[in-house]
Amino acid sequence: MTHFDKGSESIWIEGKRSLSGRIPIQGSKNAALPILAACMLIPGKCVLNGCPDITDIKCMCSLLKSTGAEVDINSAKAGNQITIDTRNVREHRLPEKYVSAMRSSVVMMGAMLGRLGEVYVNYPGGCVIGERPINLHLYGLEKLGAQIWIEGNHIHAYADELKGAVIDLPFPSVGATQNIILAAVTAQGTTIIKNAAREPEIIELCKFLNKAGAKIDYAGAFLPEGRIVIHGIELSRLHEVSYEIITDRIVAGTYLFATLAAGGEVTLENIPIGQLDSICDIITRMGAMIALNEDGSEVTIYANEREKIINIPYIETQVYPAFPTDLQSPLLAAACMAKGQLKVQEKIFTSRFRIVEELRRMGADVTVEKDLAVVTGGRELEGRTVIARELRGGAALVIAGLCASGITTVADAGYIGRGYQNIVEDLTKLGARIRYGN
Ligand code: EPZ
Repeated sequence: MTHFDKGSESIWIEGKRSLSGRIPIQGSKNAALPILAACMLIPGKCVLNGCPDITDIKCMCSLLKSTGAEVDINSAKAGNQITIDTRNVREHRLPEKYVSAMRSSVVMMGAMLGRLGEVYVNYPGGCVIGERPINLHLYGLEKLGAQIWIEGNHIHAYADELKGAVIDLPFPSVGATQNIILAAVTAQGTTIIKNAAREPEIIELCKFLNKAGAKIDYAGAFLPEGRIVIHGIELSRLHEVSYEIITDRIVAGTYLFATLAAGGEVTLENIPIGQLDSICDIITRMGAMIALNEDGSEVTIYANEREKIINIPYIETQVYPAFPTDLQSPLLAAACMAKGQLKVQEKIFTSRFRIVEELRRMGADVTVEKDLAVVTGGRELEGRTVIARELRGGAALVIAGLCASGITTVADAGYIGRGYQNIVEDLTKLGARIRYGN
């Protein structure tokens, strides 16, 4: 039960305290969500360990239950254990309230087509960070033989038999790649995805499905062609599995930027090994020091020498392994506390700078011109009541609050609870004066 479920929609922070200590990193939201959807394909009981205790995961579990699956969430120290039994799955219509609440529900389409041959779902719609169309999802499913009718705001997809195809994605969409993989696992014949997304969460989905008996060759995802090959198998060949969810690279990156901004020395335990390179590269270029332990499972950031923290001239967000769009807002907040100017180009989403107006209210010198934000750091931030408009922007406001003079209250902090399991507890452990409420 996350604190946000209790309706505590604000976070209170007393700023200007550096951070120190060590905290473990939670399970990955963006790895767990598609793997939960993939459980729909497996006629039996699957067990996922290390799932984060966040509202988006609860929403996906409710969605699975609405199809007739039995879902149990058992809290455990190292993240929740979720058991999914899909033997009685029979409902192909997905409730609008869950799909509208969490647009990544759309990856259920591929799994439902693979399992039931039919799915009825409302358009997930855009959100504050952009339009977020699903044309590439529908393109891929149609290439696999699904018939798709658009009825008002609803999509009705039906597939008598899914057939393997060659699908060349014009853009390596994470969600579209996941939907195509899920529908192709039990299709007749072989599917080749070209220009597939190669984020770690895609690889984890392939590993999970292969452990359940699927035949996916994902090594080609790292080639320039970005090639993932799925050899279709009979549904009955898929079997029950248990799987450990990897930890969350975006949550780890958020805490690294929080320490860069507030100052201090922090160690993050149980990080996803090898997935933070682009983030650590930027943080060291901004003047902090980074050290990994022997097996790469822990990272320590040293950001005590404040006069050394500087902005680098230009960063753009790009697909993995480049700098991730999900850390663009936390970077903006950290850049406010560094000397000099940073230009950030957002290349993935159409409007992911909404948080800038809140940072400006705290006194930050940030301007936005279309998809380019320009931050001039070094100014003192003032504590204010600010509004989280979405998940990662909300986390960025917490970072700004850690650095501002006086008290900052982040309202609508329920958005943050969608992806951060213990942001208040974690930062408290690191010495921040932070609590729920206002
Ligand atoms: C996933 O979203 C993540 N969500 C996002 O994280 C992340 O920002 C994004 O990938 C990029 O890495 C989950 O994994 C649940 P995309 P997704 O399809 O799949 C356009 C967070 O904070 N596009 O790669 O929606 C789209 O509009 C969230 O955890 C189309 O045009 O990302 C966007 O501009 C936010 N047509 C771009 O591609 C399509 O059919 C990237 O979208 C699909 C996407």
